[in-house]
Amino acid sequence: MGFPQTRLRRLRNGEALRRLVRETRPDPAGFILPLFVCPGEGIRREIGSMPGNYQQSVDQLVRDCEEARSLGVGGTILFGIPESKDEFASGGYDDNGIVQRAVRAIKAEVGDFLVVTDVCNCEYTSHGHCGYVKDGDVDNDVTLGWLAKSAVSHARAGADIVAPSDMMDGRAAAIRAALDEAGFEKTPILSYAAKFASGFYGPFREAAESTPQFGDRRTYQMDPANAREAMREIELDLAEGADMIMVKPALAYLDIIRMARDRFDVPIAAYQVSGEFSMIMAAARNGWIDKDRVMMETLTSIWRAGAQIILTYFAKDAARLSG
Ligand code: PBG
Repeated sequence: MGFPQTRLRRLRNGEALRRLVRETRPDPAGFILPLFVCPGEGIRREIGSMPGNYQQSVDQLVRDCEEARSLGVGGTILFGIPESKDEFASGGYDDNGIVQRAVRAIKAEVGDFLVVTDVCNCEYTSHGHCGYVKDGDVDNDVTLGWLAKSAVSHARAGADIVAPSDMMDGRAAAIRAALDEAGFEKTPILSYAAKFASGFYGPFREAAESTPQFGDRRTYQMDPANAREAMREIELDLAEGADMIMVKPALAYLDIIRMARDRFDVPIAAYQVSGEFSMIMAAARNGWIDKDRVMMETLTSIWRAGAQIILTYFAKDAARLSG
């Protein structure tokens, strides 16, 4: 039956009706707020390119988590800015490292709030690459050992979920084996399975002070042109024992999220990364777009594409609006 019997505008007539027939609603319980933790006390330094985001000391971070929890945000993912960096990323797997201290504090002080840790080395290496550099390239297999040690150290501190973001081959298996051997068989792995070499990470590298000092990450992160290869990455990570997978960035990769949703029956996360956040904030500050509207529109599109977990710097703002 067509027009005039059928009029699709009929169900758009007023917000109550639109709400009734709405197909997709991002749920704040699926939002994960990324936070940057640094040494010291009472520190809260705003990140220039990411308004409303801070490098903060553990005491401040805990307050942020408390606020996020009270708004219904599901959890946080932590990134560390260590006291010092070296060639071996030793700050990353130190039981007394900055992320480990933050995890212990949040778990002690904020109830019912998930703490995810980003397992990577780039914040801890003097050169900013995600692993051990040999002959100008990141050595895969040496790096696996560091990742396994970091994941165990995070779990020991109390992390609820570990999330490797390095894109080394075989990391899910290496981390699963190390966690199990250390008695953390209950700690799930959220693998950044399809992580692309993206220009959208620019502001994050300022925030985490992790810009590579030479070259780029294209020998380990994926080529933005490849969708089929992304499915292979996901398949391999699941075969190695990843419990959940992630697509990153989100907005420019909605097709990848949808392909993954249609193929794999596991929880799928997507990361609305720093550049996606900063673009919206910058345009809004210029008065060119409405921040709240575009924020909710992008989050809804990511949810609609098939991600029921969204890592987003908008987590608190969006939770406020989703209420
Ligand atoms: C660490 C890591 C990065 C991001 C998350 N984990 C940076 C990178 O790969 O360069 C980016 C997150 C963002 O841009 O918000 N490897």
